[in-house]
Amino acid sequence: MTEPRTSARNTLSLKTAPTLKPVRKGQSEDVIVIGAGAAGLMAAMTAAERGKSVLVLDHASKLCEKIRISGGGRCNFTNIHCAPHNFLSDNPRFVRPALKAYTQRDFLKLVESHNIAWHEKTLGQLFCDHSANDIIDMLLERCSSKGARVLGQTTITAVRSLPVQDENSPRFELETSDGLKSCRNLVVATGGLSIPKIGATNFGHRLAQNLNIPVTPLRPALVPLVLQEDDKEFCKAISGLSLPVRTSAGKQSFEEALLFTHRGLSGPSILQISSYWQPGGSIRINLLPGEDIPALMAADRQSKKNVSSILSNHLPNRLAKAMADKHSATGSMTETGKKTLNSLIEGLSNWQLTPAGDEGYNKAEVTLGGVDTRSLDPATMECRDHPGLFFIGEVTDVTGHLGGHNFQWAWSSGFAAGLGV
Ligand code: FDA
Repeated sequence: MTEPRTSARNTLSLKTAPTLKPVRKGQSEDVIVIGAGAAGLMAAMTAAERGKSVLVLDHASKLCEKIRISGGGRCNFTNIHCAPHNFLSDNPRFVRPALKAYTQRDFLKLVESHNIAWHEKTLGQLFCDHSANDIIDMLLERCSSKGARVLGQTTITAVRSLPVQDENSPRFELETSDGLKSCRNLVVATGGLSIPKIGATNFGHRLAQNLNIPVTPLRPALVPLVLQEDDKEFCKAISGLSLPVRTSAGKQSFEEALLFTHRGLSGPSILQISSYWQPGGSIRINLLPGEDIPALMAADRQSKKNVSSILSNHLPNRLAKAMADKHSATGSMTETGKKTLNSLIEGLSNWQLTPAGDEGYNKAEVTLGGVDTRSLDPATMECRDHPGLFFIGEVTDVTGHLGGHNFQWAWSSGFAAGLGV
C-alpha cells in the first residue's frame, strides 16, 4: 500500500482540551487501541498474539462496563444464528467478510477454551451461566498474557498524524493524560453513544469527521418507545404486562415479547422494531400472532358472554378488558355490532401506533449509524484514505439485532483489525 508522504506534522485536530499535562516522550507502539470495550480488547489480543506491541487506552475508571451490564449481568455474548441479515447498515454487504472470517463458533470456542459455562436462552442467544465478568476476565487475561497493556483513566486530548519516514516509523501521535504516545497503527474502538454515564462518547465519530470520513446519521436503537398522550394512558393502565406479539415497521417484523410501560412500549419485540422505526412514522402490532383472529371472533359470535371475557381466553385479562373498552366493545358478543367487532379485530391484528419518540441514549442498547463503512476496507476495517487508521465495533455504521449480534460484530470486526494492523 502506498502512503501519502507528509513533510510536516499533520494534526488530526481532535483537540478536546486546551491545556495538557506536560508531555513526556513515550515508546512507540505497533498498535494503539482507543477504547477497552469488546471490540478494542478483541483487536488488542489478536494483534498481540501476532507479536505486535499493543497499548489500549480508555478514559473510564472501570473498564468493560458495557460488557458487565449486558444481558442482565450474564452477557449475551453471541448468537448461534448470527448472519449478515441480522445487521443494519447503509452498506449492508460490508459485514460479510469479517463475520465469515471470525464466526460465532470461533468466539464460542474461545469461551469454551477458558472453561466459561454458557447456555442458550432462546432464539440462539448464548449467555454466561455465571456472570459477564467471565467474558471480561477472559479478554483481559488474553491481552495481558500476550503483553498487550491496558490503561484506564487515560484521557486522549489530541491525535496527530506524523510525517512518514519509513515503513516502520510511527504514523500517529497521541497527547494523553499519561503523556505523549505514538504508534504505527491506530484502532478506534470507542463504541456508540448509549449509556453516557458509563463512559460513552462521540470521540470516534468526531475523529472521523475531522478527517473528512463521513459519519451516517446517529440515533438511539434497541430502545423503548414513548407514545402519544392517549396511547400512553392506555399503556400506563396495564404497565408491567408482557405478552408475545408480532411488531412490524415497513417490511420488517419481529415475533418476540412486548412489555407495556408507564411511558409506552418496551420488551424485545419493541427494541428490535425501534431500529427500523423512522421518527414520525408508525409501527404495527399483532397481539395474537399466528391466530386467525376473525375466525376466533366468529366462533363466539352467538355468545352471550362479554367480549372482554371471550378475549381473555386468548389474551391476559387486563389487556383483554382494555382492548375491548378501547374499541367500545363493552357488552356481550351478540350485542356487539359488526362495525365495532371489525374495529376490534383490526386493533388486535394490526394495531397502528405512531410513537412520539424513544427513550433516548440513557435507555438505548446501541446507536444506529456511525462511521460510514464505505470508507473502510471490509476485510481489515482500515480506512481507505488513511493507512494505519482503523474503526471497529459499534462506532461504525453497523447495528445488530437484539440477541448477541452486537457483541458478535465487536468480536468479528476486532479480529479483522487485529489481523490487519
Ligand atoms: P464499547 O461501548 O463496549 O466500548 C467502548 C469503549 O470506549 C468504552 O470502554 C469507553 O469507555 C471507551 N471510550 C469511549 N470514549 C472514549 C474516549 N473519548 N477516550 C477513551 N476511551 C473512550 N450486545 C449484545 O450483543 N448482547 C447483549 O447482551 C447486550 N446487552 C447490552 C445491554 C446494555 C444495557 C447495553 C447498553 C448494550 C448492550 N449490548 C449488548 C450492546 C453491546 O454492549 C455493544 O454493542 C458493544 O459493547 C459494543 O462494543 P464496542 O467495543 O464497540 O464498544
